[in-house]
Amino acid sequence: MRLQGKSAIVTGAGRGIGKAIAKKFLQEGAVIVICDLEGKRLEKAREELEPFGKVHSIQADVTKREEVEKLVALANQQFGRIDILANNAGISRFESFLEITDKNWQDTLDVNLTGVFLCSQIVAQEMKKQESGAIVNMGSTNGILGEPGLAHYNATKAGVILLSKSMAIELAPYNIRVNSVCPGFILTELALEGGMSEETVRSYTAKIPLNRYGKVEEVANAFAFLASDEASFITGTELVVDGGQICQE
Ligand SMILES: NC(=O)c1ccc[n+]([C@@H]2O[C@H](COP(=O)([O-])OP(=O)(O)OC[C@H]3O[C@@H](n4cnc5c(N)ncnc54)[C@H](O)[C@@H]3O)[C@@H](O)[C@H]2O)c1
Repeated sequence: MRLQGKSAIVTGAGRGIGKAIAKKFLQEGAVIVICDLEGKRLEKAREELEPFGKVHSIQADVTKREEVEKLVALANQQFGRIDILANNAGISRFESFLEITDKNWQDTLDVNLTGVFLCSQIVAQEMKKQESGAIVNMGSTNGILGEPGLAHYNATKAGVILLSKSMAIELAPYNIRVNSVCPGFILTELALEGGMSEETVRSYTAKIPLNRYGKVEEVANAFAFLASDEASFITGTELVVDGGQICQE
């Protein structure tokens, strides 16, 4: 129960890795507020998560300041403080660099980067008052190495990693730690919706030293560690969860 007595917000928790992070936080003893853009998906997730602990939900778009303010207000109203923020919400659209539309470029930046900025800034104001907190941001191995077809996504994830480092420095005086988790290939709806064929899944897996794709729970474990007091001297870094994929040539 590494998160006993702590309250947390998890964004984009309607499915996939975000829902796994929410479940892990509950299993570790935290009370949580989850949000997602998709209302029905969010409610289904809340029902699934309820047996594991105290969970509140609110439909919110992380790209809209007013909606993030409502999310943070709900957490404050329910728990009186916010100890942990897991910025997980993200989108990816496979398209070659020469064909990226202005809309897809902007949407990707808005959700993956501006969303992290808004949630972190608004939550950090609360954490500053209580002089403690842990923010864990969703990066990606795509923020460390390039990959064709994902230039906009890669740019946002690289941005998340450096935004996290800058926040770590500025928020350290208030005892707020900020880190990012960089998963490699985790098979979720996002990957499949992004247009990934079975053949692509096989060819990706072949490049991973551990010879398999990662599970959502394995990313959730990294979030729980960085959010917990076990990581009390860790800030401004990224934890790669990729089966060894990017440690090789
Ligand atoms: N799946 C992977 O292999 C992988 C690898 C590295 C990083 N990631 C990152 O992990 C995160 C989660 O990915 P996933 O695979 O679970 O994706 P997913 O699509 O299964 O889940 C993402 C959730 O975020 C929600 N969301 C999207 N836009 C939102 C917004 N504006 N406001 C609030 N919620 C919003 C979606 O509705 C969805 O429920 C993303 O940031 C993604 O970039 C995924």
